[in-house]
Amino acid sequence: MDARSELQATVDALVQAGKGLLAADESGPTIAKRFQRIGVDSNEENRRAWRTLLLSAPGLGDFISGVILYEETLGQRADDGTPLPELAARQGIVPGIKVDKGKLALALAPGDEITEGLDGLAKRLAGYRQQGARFAKWRAVFNVSDSLPGRLAIKANAQALAAYAAICQESGVVPIVEPEVLMDGAHSMERCTEVTEAVLHEVFHALHRHAVVLEHMLLKPSMVLPGKEAGRATPAEVAAQTVQVLKRTVPAAVPGIFFLSGGQTPTEATANLDAMNRIGPFPWRLSFSYGRALQEPPLLAWHGDAANLAQAQRALLQRSRLNAMACLGQYQAALEDATT
Ligand code: 13P
Repeated sequence: MDARSELQATVDALVQAGKGLLAADESGPTIAKRFQRIGVDSNEENRRAWRTLLLSAPGLGDFISGVILYEETLGQRADDGTPLPELAARQGIVPGIKVDKGKLALALAPGDEITEGLDGLAKRLAGYRQQGARFAKWRAVFNVSDSLPGRLAIKANAQALAAYAAICQESGVVPIVEPEVLMDGAHSMERCTEVTEAVLHEVFHALHRHAVVLEHMLLKPSMVLPGKEAGRATPAEVAAQTVQVLKRTVPAAVPGIFFLSGGQTPTEATANLDAMNRIGPFPWRLSFSYGRALQEPPLLAWHGDAANLAQAQRALLQRSRLNAMACLGQYQAALEDATT
């Protein structure tokens, strides 16, 4: 297969009606924070056990088309020796990999941050491909206040996202471009709208400059929400604002927009996605690429105890099923109480 048809095949496998992505790519410090909540030590064995539980949930492939893994997981195996990426692939779930190296303070721009990881990326991607990864993810974060993010942070992160996406496509790997406008703070929904629109404009300018093929990438944005300390908006409000910003900024050639959950509760993330899909149709598919909003219920059910495996897997399947329904605008809050 030539490089273009390979990228297209990966996009087709990921972007499917009524399916989304599972983000299971927490870095060392982040997974430690998640495990701490349930009193589990974050050692390699516990991380392997947890991620094996997720990827081996029977029937997960009915609702999940791709999983974003962390570098360590690509090299881990299930108890029977199956490499974890293969465990996903057997369920029809495409394995992907987080390739950024995290964020740090942006020099001379107090309060702003920049994501690093471009050096040596092409070489790393070649290795990840050999381990089964077919798509990648890079996350840029934007802190919000009256004055943040500054122009420099918006431009520098857009530039890095575009350079990353170009390197991925040249390596035969589909890039997921993730600009996250953070929920932290007391800012208004209007401020989040303004920032998200400015960020997405700049990101697509940069992607164009870097000759990234829009048909062969996916966008993973945050939804437009008020800051966490500023109260909550209804799903209808979130949907209307988010869709307006996306229509203004995301070209129709982009095949899929897979939202992050970013600190919303699992039910909020599902209800908000559902509300958007009820006001379609759109040129792109609107789906989910949730980390916390998919993993929190099974993590609480698991508690680090192998005896809870089946119950935890059921919790993951239930959340995945409800989000799959939200992709079609068919979710109902009453389904939350139903068992499987
Ligand atoms: P959350 O859904 O928990 O925001 O995680 C998604 C993700 O991949 C963040 O980079």
